[in-house]
Amino acid sequence: MAPRATRRDRIVPESRLAEVFERITQETKIMQQNMGRAPLGRDEARLDVQARLKDQLILAPLTRGGNLPFRRLCADFGANVTYSEMAYARMLMKDNLVGRRERSRLYRAPNEQCFGLQIATNVISEGVFAGKLARESGIDFIDLNCG
Ligand SMILES: Cc1cc2nc3c(=O)[nH]c(=O)nc-3n(C[C@H](O)[C@H](O)[C@H](O)COP(=O)(O)O)c2cc1C
Repeated sequence: MAPRATRRDRIVPESRLAEVFERITQETKIMQQNMGRAPLGRDEARLDVQARLKDQLILAPLTRGGNLPFRRLCADFGANVTYSEMAYARMLMKDNLVGRRERSRLYRAPNEQCFGLQIATNVISEGVFAGKLARESGIDFIDLNCG
């Protein structure tokens, strides 16, 4: 039987980073094509994000602070881009109370105009799962926290 993978084993070694980024870039292009949108180059994508965020009042991600009632207040006071509390991708996958609690971080207040989910993971499959969940839940953007 293969030895159980440890947390350290799952972290992408530096020697494989270029390969992993290349794969993610390709998958992102395919995803954007499937969404009926021309894939953006890296510089274009940066400008796109800059244009969308220019002059916006952004509430930073705040673990334990950025809960729904607080964000609702901030949106009332003019925050037009808000972040969820950080959600652990691995916990989002759990089919139990822990999973339900973590998935509750995806709820948005009715007055949140542009709401992002911060996902914490360094495991690609978990990140992909969390990304799909976010998309299905109508989240506007994802912030990836790799630790
Ligand atoms: C209580 C608290 C919780 C935070 N939680 C997160 C978090 O979960 N994820 C994250 O990326 N940054 C987190 N941060 C960092 C903030 O998002 C922000 O980057 C930092 O406070 C600097 O911004 P400021 O100069 O406007 O305070 C947290 C900061 C504070 C004070």
